[in-house]
Amino acid sequence: MEQLQHKTAVITGGNSGIGYATAADFLAKGAKVLITGRNPEAVQQAVDTLGNDTDSFIADQGKIADTQKLAEYVRDRYGKIDILFVNAGIANFGPFSQVTEESFDRLMDINLKGAFFTVQYLLPLIKDGGTIILLSSINALAGMPGASIYNASKAGLNSLGRTLSRELASRKIRVNTVNPGPVETPILQKAGIPEEAINKDEMAKKLPAGRIGQPEEIAKLVSFLASDEASFITGAEYNIDGGFSVHPLIG
Ligand SMILES: NC(=O)c1ccc[n+]([C@@H]2O[C@H](COP(=O)([O-])OP(=O)(O)OC[C@H]3O[C@@H](n4cnc5c(N)ncnc54)[C@H](OP(=O)(O)O)[C@@H]3O)[C@@H](O)[C@H]2O)c1
Repeated sequence: MEQLQHKTAVITGGNSGIGYATAADFLAKGAKVLITGRNPEAVQQAVDTLGNDTDSFIADQGKIADTQKLAEYVRDRYGKIDILFVNAGIANFGPFSQVTEESFDRLMDINLKGAFFTVQYLLPLIKDGGTIILLSSINALAGMPGASIYNASKAGLNSLGRTLSRELASRKIRVNTVNPGPVETPILQKAGIPEEAINKDEMAKKLPAGRIGQPEEIAKLVSFLASDEASFITGAEYNIDGGFSVHPLIG
């Protein structure tokens, strides 16, 4: 039986990487899927490859007015949804001393404030018994140097997940957070790191798994958490990082 049959899902940032792979996995498991993104051509390209049953809406997660319009669209089109996957995010790297108010606000507006208000605006449209999954990062826990804004934005998401799991318990809405380690997506190039400077082999050496992850591997965990098979799981945080979080200090 298809694990997500009769479920309707909204995925923010579904035109690329983990969001795209999750949309494909949700569709394969029988869900109706709406993806969002900020770039109309990229979103249309994703819809073309995911299949024309995929719905889409152009909304910048960093703009609350867009989120409000997304919620109106979802309400008019679907009434209620079962799954909200808050995935859209950007990265930004550089020493703490060089962080500007502008770079801080740009990242926080999308990764934390945008994620926060995406949940708030869509919450009345999530069925009782539905589920929310927040896409954080192992960086929320790891304190990686040179990623102070990103790390803080993701730590905020983990905190939000814990709070919402309790606040929404009366509506039987399960809230869980996923913390991936390094995954092969275009996020680093989009953050301005040239392709030749991204050393996957060096990253892989730090992982017991011996390689970085693929978006499809994260998608499978998200699909499981979105399904009724995860009915006893809420307030949880899942590291899916090839073992990065147990990187040994000794030995
Ligand atoms: N890749 C990793 O190693 C890794 C590890 C841990 C956590 N993550 C997290 O995983 C999530 C997905 O990232 P990814 O690695 O799959 O990167 P990605 O391929 O760049 O995907 C990010 C998605 O979010 C969209 N997006 C970015 N800013 C947006 C905005 N303001 N409004 C709407 N959509 C927006 C992107 O659209 P555009 O195409 O327009 O940019 C894209 O569809 C992020 O939250 C990221 O922090 C990634």
